[in-house]
Amino acid sequence: MDVIKVKDVWKKYKIYHDKGSTLKERILFKNRNRYEERWALKGIDLDIKKGETVGLIGENGSGKSTLLKLLTKIIYPNKGEIEIKGKVSSLLELGAGFHPDMTGRENIYMNASIFGLTKEEIDKKLDDIISFSGLEDFIDNPVRTYSSGMYMRLAFSVAINVDADILLIDEVLAVGDTSFQKKCIEKMVELKNKGVTIVFVSHDNNMVKRLCDKAIWLKNGNIASQGIVKDVINNYLDHLNTKSNIKCTEDSKNEINSTNNQVISEREVSIEKEEVKDIKPANKNKRWGNKYVEILQVDMFDKDNKSKHIFISGETVRISIKYKVNKKVDDVVFGIGIFRDDEVCCYGTNTFIDNYKIDKLTGRIDVEIDNLNLITGKYYLDVAVHDKFGLPYDYIKKILSFNVETRTEEIGVVRLAHKWHIL
Ligand SMILES: Nc1ncnc2c1ncn2[C@@H]1O[C@H](COP(=O)(O)OP(=O)(O)OP(=O)(O)O)[C@@H](O)[C@H]1O
Ligand SMILES: [Mg+2]
Repeated sequence: MDVIKVKDVWKKYKIYHDKGSTLKERILFKNRNRYEERWALKGIDLDIKKGETVGLIGENGSGKSTLLKLLTKIIYPNKGEIEIKGKVSSLLELGAGFHPDMTGRENIYMNASIFGLTKEEIDKKLDDIISFSGLEDFIDNPVRTYSSGMYMRLAFSVAINVDADILLIDEVLAVGDTSFQKKCIEKMVELKNKGVTIVFVSHDNNMVKRLCDKAIWLKNGNIASQGIVKDVINNYLDHLNTKSNIKCTEDSKNEINSTNNQVISEREVSIEKEEVKDIKPANKNKRWGNKYVEILQVDMFDKDNKSKHIFISGETVRISIKYKVNKKVDDVVFGIGIFRDDEVCCYGTNTFIDNYKIDKLTGRIDVEIDNLNLITGKYYLDVAVHDKFGLPYDYIKKILSFNVETRTEEIGVVRLAHKWHIL
C-alpha cells in the first residue's frame, strides 16, 4: 500500500533582488520588489510504500529539503498533487518549531502538540523524550542557550516519540555527536521494524546503504534515478566522479602550469650557470628538483582507460606520467606515493625498489595497480623522478587528489585480503 504518492509536483521560489525591509520602503519603492523565479522541483513523481525506508540523496540545492517540506505540508506545490496516508512526524531544519525563549520542556509540549498529541499524551511521554535526548540537566533552560547538537537531540527525541506512521528527517543527524548519532540510527531501525515509513535525507552513502530499502537521487529538481539503493548510489557516484574529474583535470593543469613557470625560469638560470648540484625548492613544500628530467603531466585511469578521480576500492588503476628530458642523465628512477588527506603514507614505491631498470627515456611511463585496495577516503598522489641515489630531478607533492569509495563497511586504510575459517 502506498502511503506517500507524489504526482507531477512542481515548486518554485521567488528570489527577491532588493526587497525593502519595511512596509514604507516596500510601498514607496515598488520597483524594488523585483524578483526572479526559480524552480526547485520540476515534475516529481514518486510512490512510497508503507514500511519502506527511503534515502533521499543529491547535491546541495538539488531540492531534497524542499521535497521534505512539501511532504510535511509546511509549504505547498505550485502544481501537482501530494497524497499522504497516516500521521506525519518530521525533523526538518534545526530549531524549526522551537521557540528560543521557551525552555526545552515547554518546547517539547509545543512541538509535540504540533504533531497532534494532547497534553495528557505528552505528559505520559515526557520522561521518555527527555531521557532519550540526554538533556536532563538543561531541560529547564531556554533553548536559545542550546548548542546545535542539543537542538537536534531535543527535536529528534520529540519527532520519534509522537507515534507517527511516517517519519521525515532532513540532514540534521550530522550535527549530533557520534554516540547520539548511533542512538538515532538504532531508534530508526527500531521504528522501521515496527512498520513506520521513513524518508530521510543524507549525504552519508554508507548510512543510506545500511538503512534504506530504496533510494532517490534528486538532481536539479528532477529525479535522476530511483530504486535499488546500490544502483542509485552508483549512478550518483558516477555523476560526481565525472564532475570531479573535469574539475580535478583543470585544477591539476593549473597546478602544473603555475609550478612549471616558476621552475622553468629557475632551471634556466641554474643550467646557464652550470650550478648542477644546487637544488632549490621551486614552490616550497610542493615541488622541488633540478628539472633535468621534468614531469609534464600526471593522470589516473581506470581499466577502461577512462580518466578518473573517484575509484571503487579494488579497482585497477593506472597512473600515467608524462615527462621530458632537459639534460642528459645517466640514471633515472620514477616513484609514486599515495597519502591519505591526514598525511598518512599509505603506499610508496619506485622503479628502483621494484628492480625495474629504465633504459630508454621515451617521455612517458605508466604504473598499473591491479587492485587499489584502499578504504573510503580522500587521498593524494605524489610523483617523483630522481637519480638512483634519490637526488630529485623533479618531485611534485599532491599532484593529484582522488577519492576511494568502498562498497562494504570495512574500516582502516587498506583492505587486507582475508578469509574466515570456521574450525
Ligand atoms: N526559501 C527559499 N527561497 C528561495 N529559494 C529557495 C528557498 N529554499 C530553497 N531554495 C532554492 O531551491 C533549491 C533547492 O533547495 P533545497 O533546500 O531543497 O536543496 P537541498 O537539496 O535540500 O540542498 P542541501 O543539500 O544544501 O540541503 C535551491 O536552488 C535553493 O536555492
Ligand atoms: Mg537541504
